[in-house]
Amino acid sequence: MEWCFAMPKIELHAHLNGSIRDSTLLGLAKALGEKGKIVFSEFEHVILNHDRSLREVFKLFDLIHMVTTDHEIVTRITKEVVEDFAAENVVYLELRTTPKRNDLVGMSKRSYVEAVVNGLRDVSTVEVNFSSCTTGGSLNPVCRNNACTGTAKKKIYVRLLLSIDRRETTEAAIETVKLALEMRHLGVMGVDLSGNPIIGEWVTFLPALKFAQEQGLSVTLHCGEVPNMEEIRRMLEFLPQRIGHACFLGEEEWKKLKSSKIPVEICLTSNVQTNTISSLDVHHFEDLYKSKHPIVLCTDDAGVFSTSLSKEYSIASSTFGIGKKEMFHLARNAIDFIFAGDGVKEELKHIFDSAALKLDL
Ligand code: IMP
Ligand code: ZN
Repeated sequence: MEWCFAMPKIELHAHLNGSIRDSTLLGLAKALGEKGKIVFSEFEHVILNHDRSLREVFKLFDLIHMVTTDHEIVTRITKEVVEDFAAENVVYLELRTTPKRNDLVGMSKRSYVEAVVNGLRDVSTVEVNFSSCTTGGSLNPVCRNNACTGTAKKKIYVRLLLSIDRRETTEAAIETVKLALEMRHLGVMGVDLSGNPIIGEWVTFLPALKFAQEQGLSVTLHCGEVPNMEEIRRMLEFLPQRIGHACFLGEEEWKKLKSSKIPVEICLTSNVQTNTISSLDVHHFEDLYKSKHPIVLCTDDAGVFSTSLSKEYSIASSTFGIGKKEMFHLARNAIDFIFAGDGVKEELKHIFDSAALKLDL
């Protein structure tokens, strides 16, 4: 569907390393194989197999972590991911990533995030607005790409969320929140809780997430990827600013979610590929959409699941019989759920309204 590609879109649930280009991942794995650090043929098979369970997806993430070893690679992946989203008319992107420490290459959580920010600066195909200090149309002085030359180019707003991995300790999670607070001026808007859903306990992360909210950061949680009702209930009681997935909610949790009005980041392809949802026709998107619960379509891991935001819109439209104009409204409604401030929201409304006229939406 050409119009799904052409219309402006907002992406709020995209993991940086899960959005890596296949070709980049293959190239990096090959280079590591040539250095004798991995057996390339074993990994080639994993990368090229696109039908993965949730367990296999996390295996692939371990591989991705092995190849994304240094700052230059993190910078390159970030640049490519932003360029790929911008190329399909994503106008606002909240990119999340887990700050990683790698003593072998002198990488700290902070230098990891700085490498990500350098990737935003390196983008050349599109104008990137990434600092929350940027107001109105004025441009960030630290911006090195074409945005600073004043040339009229396609524009994308990018904001960052730092992820807490469920493998982490309370102390490590608090360290990530502190880092997010220190890097607010570089467009870090909040924190995410993600990682293998069968690992870790809610009480471990709660102090860090509470601290984040107290300090004015926004919080989004991977919620209900597995049927852990106790955790789902506690997550909803915490009142995060958004949640991702919401697949395994029981009747009581479902009621709680609906009355809370917490926006849900919906990742159709990801849910089906990881068998979190058995098939699209029974996906909870339909119920949430019909009951006008706040929802936003997202990719989760565009690289790992071989998808794109345009594809997700196209799938939703054809599966649930939603027309072009309604899909446009669905995309535009996401403005209300972004973590950036009112200035950016106003600019996005303007972008969507001009596109509506131009594309007859
Ligand atoms: P990164 O944080 O940029 O390294 O992105 C990859 C990471 O995102 C993975 O290692 C996981 O921790 C997390 N992730 C990606 N997809 C999912 C998901 O579906 N559920 C939970 N965590 C995920
Ligand atoms: Zn996710």
